[in-house]
This record gives sequence, structure tokens and C-alpha cells, in this order.
Amino acid sequence: MRRDWFEAVYRLAEGDAACVPWGDLAPHPLLVEWLAREERLSGLRALDVGCGLGDNAEALATAGAKVSAFDFVGAAIDWAKRRFPQSTVDYRAADLFALPTEWRGAFDLVHECYTLQALPETLLGKAAQALAFAVAPGGRLLVIARAREEGEEFRGPPWPLTRKQIEALATGGLTLASLEEGAARKDRPHWRAVFCRARG
Ligand SMILES: C[S@@+](CC[C@H](N)C(=O)[O-])C[C@H]1O[C@@H](n2cnc3c(N)ncnc32)[C@H](O)[C@@H]1O
Repeated sequence: MRRDWFEAVYRLAEGDAACVPWGDLAPHPLLVEWLAREERLSGLRALDVGCGLGDNAEALATAGAKVSAFDFVGAAIDWAKRRFPQSTVDYRAADLFALPTEWRGAFDLVHECYTLQALPETLLGKAAQALAFAVAPGGRLLVIARAREEGEEFRGPPWPLTRKQIEALATGGLTLASLEEGAARKDRPHWRAVFCRARG
């Protein structure tokens, strides 16, 4: 899916989140659950990838992280800022495939939810490299995505990810630390995966 498709979604919604397929106006339950058992977020630098309307970024900030959040659709960033005028989150327009150089190794936690599954399979390797780029030494990448069986046909978008596709995100110096399947959501199983970069 390309930028103009996402731009059209936000534009045609005309401020009505019910018209944005991922516009739940709440952080993802798998993120909320993960944050509830996490004790190490206070003061950490976190990056929310493809932040959309901002709910996940705000949840990370509420958990104590110093959060940057980006989306390549400027209208999404404006919308998130309007929704959370008092926010401590640094919202900005940026492209996952052209991240600012100052974000290299800059985040203790990089979080992505539902952006990878919106990409054509051919871009997943490049996306994995981009996610790893932003993870600091000793930092982590948290991925939440819908799950699909190997060989299961799926007419996307979105394109739920197979176990192999999740495991392949262990690149650019990241190793897979945990992979949970089947948690939450009525629609279909989900992955929640955590990857780590060793301390320098
Ligand atoms: C399916 S939505 C998920 C939004 C949000 N993460 C959530 O869980 O509600 C995917 C988001 O990623 C953004 N996106 C897609 N490709 C991107 C890219 N290359 N760089 C930055 N944002 C991107 C889209 O504009 C959209 O807001």
C-alpha cells in the first residue's frame, strides 16, 4: 500500500475516526497488556512507528517513556496532535524508509503495530532494516501484527504475517527475545514479538 492510499483514507474520513479502519481511539489491547507487566519504561526513549491517530504513542507516554511518534501522512500527525493537545509526545511526519539520521540507534523501545502488515511482502526486509536502525544498544523492538498460517491464502490489505516473516525481523543486529501467538482480538490470532539489541 502506498502513501497516496493512506492519505486518501485520512482525507476521506474528514475527522471521523469511524471511517479509518484502524481508528479504534484506544491503544491496542496487546500493547496495553504488555505495558502493564513492563517495569522498565520510565524515562526510556520510545518511538511509535506509523502512529496513525496516536493512541499507542500516548499509551507509551503514559507508561513513562519519552515518546517520538511518526507517520508519513501529515494529516494523521495533525489529527493526533488535535486529539492530544497536552501531549508530551513529539509527533512528526516521517517515512519509515527514510528515517532522520539522528534516529540511528536512538530509542530504547521501538514499537510498531499494524504498519508491517500493511506493506507488500517485498518491502518487509527493507522495513525490518529500518526498524532495527532506530533501536539503541540494549534496546528493544516490539511488534504487534495479525497472524497467518504458513501457506494460508489471504486477500489483503492488510496481509497478516506468518511466523517466518516475524522471525525474519531479527536483522540488523536484533535477535528475537520472545514471540507470543494467539493473544487477544476477536478477528484473528495476533503476534506479539520482542527483539533485542545487545549492549554495545
Ligand atoms: C494500519 S495503520 C496503523 C496505525 C497505528 N499504528 C495503529 O495501530 O492504529 C498504518 C499506519 O502506518 C502509516 N504508514 C504506512 N507506511 C508508512 C511509512 N512508510 N512510513 C511512515 N508511516 C507509514 C500509515 O499512514 C498508517 O497511519
